[in-house]
Amino acid sequence: MVYNASMIILGVETSCDETAISVVEAEGDLQNLSFKLLGSALHSQVKLHAEYGGVFPNLAKREHIKNLPLVYKEALGKAEVEERKIEMIAVTVGPGLEPALWTGIVFAKELGERLEIPIIGTNHMIGHIASVLFNNKIEFPAVALLISGGHTELVLLNSWTDKKKIGETQDDAVGEAFDKVARMLGLPYPGGPEISHLAEQARELRIINYELRFPRPMIHSRDLNFSFSGLKTAVLYYLRDNPQTEKMAVAREFEDAVIETLVFKTKKAIEEYCPKTLIIGGGVIANKALRENFINLKNDYSDMKILIPAKELTTDNATMIAMAGYIQYLGNGTKTSVELSAQGSLDL
Ligand code: KG4
Ligand code: ZN
Repeated sequence: MVYNASMIILGVETSCDETAISVVEAEGDLQNLSFKLLGSALHSQVKLHAEYGGVFPNLAKREHIKNLPLVYKEALGKAEVEERKIEMIAVTVGPGLEPALWTGIVFAKELGERLEIPIIGTNHMIGHIASVLFNNKIEFPAVALLISGGHTELVLLNSWTDKKKIGETQDDAVGEAFDKVARMLGLPYPGGPEISHLAEQARELRIINYELRFPRPMIHSRDLNFSFSGLKTAVLYYLRDNPQTEKMAVAREFEDAVIETLVFKTKKAIEEYCPKTLIIGGGVIANKALRENFINLKNDYSDMKILIPAKELTTDNATMIAMAGYIQYLGNGTKTSVELSAQGSLDL
């Protein structure tokens, strides 16, 4: 099938605590994808949930319902696109918080019926993979490391339609570990950026505690799996036994342990599968030190492309959902989607 004509897609994302809508122009086939962002809007509930130290699904649901129409209007306005020009809606159906996912699905269904356009139920994790596609081409085979608040996994992609999970966390996701350790340090939710900031400061001020060493979990296991709950517990016990320790030093050592583990396992996957492209997606790759470490892999694997999304596309957004929706649409060869429903633990 050859797709020459471009298509205007509305992406809708409500899987967690961001209400996001993007208008994207998509073109090409699976071998030659091209995307243009026409306009996007995002309302974050982070401040609201911060009071409770985490995301409350029913509060998220209420906020999404309230904000979706406003975010939609803002996105269309920025894109300078009339709604009758939208040709397809891509909405996240999972994985995520089901009450939150439903709000986006209901919104998309109503809009789809009104505009008489198809809706494609989109996988949030394919979204995180697709987040690298602006001005970039993925050469297959590719390995993707997905690191977010809910997921830590390594995926092998032989093509867009042939992909499999080759490693995953056995317990906590890496973003979750950041959030929990931040809480132990008395830092607000979401903890990732807070820890990142403290660790950065520690590096600048050369604060390092040589007696402090956290485990690099599962680094010697033969598989490509991860585990972060032991590391989290190590931090907990350390803080209990050493309440006076400089927070900055703890943040730095925790971040170093995470970075070393992620880089080590990713290198193992590269050695095993020899990918032409390495993709890193998900909120945790917003972390500056982690980004630098992955970019530096260029020195070890000069023939491999390393794709990391622009900062605004690392955390949850609707642009990546519109792009993933287009990919799923091309893969299925059909516009019509099955009856949509929220799937909290949807797999790849
Ligand atoms: O992809 P995302 O926005 O949402 C999920 O799909 O989960 O990822 C959110 C996660 C949170 O756990 C947050 O703490 C983490 O990404 N995060 C970071 C940074 N910015 C966000 N973790 C480490 N360093 C950061 N700079
Ligand atoms: Zn996400």
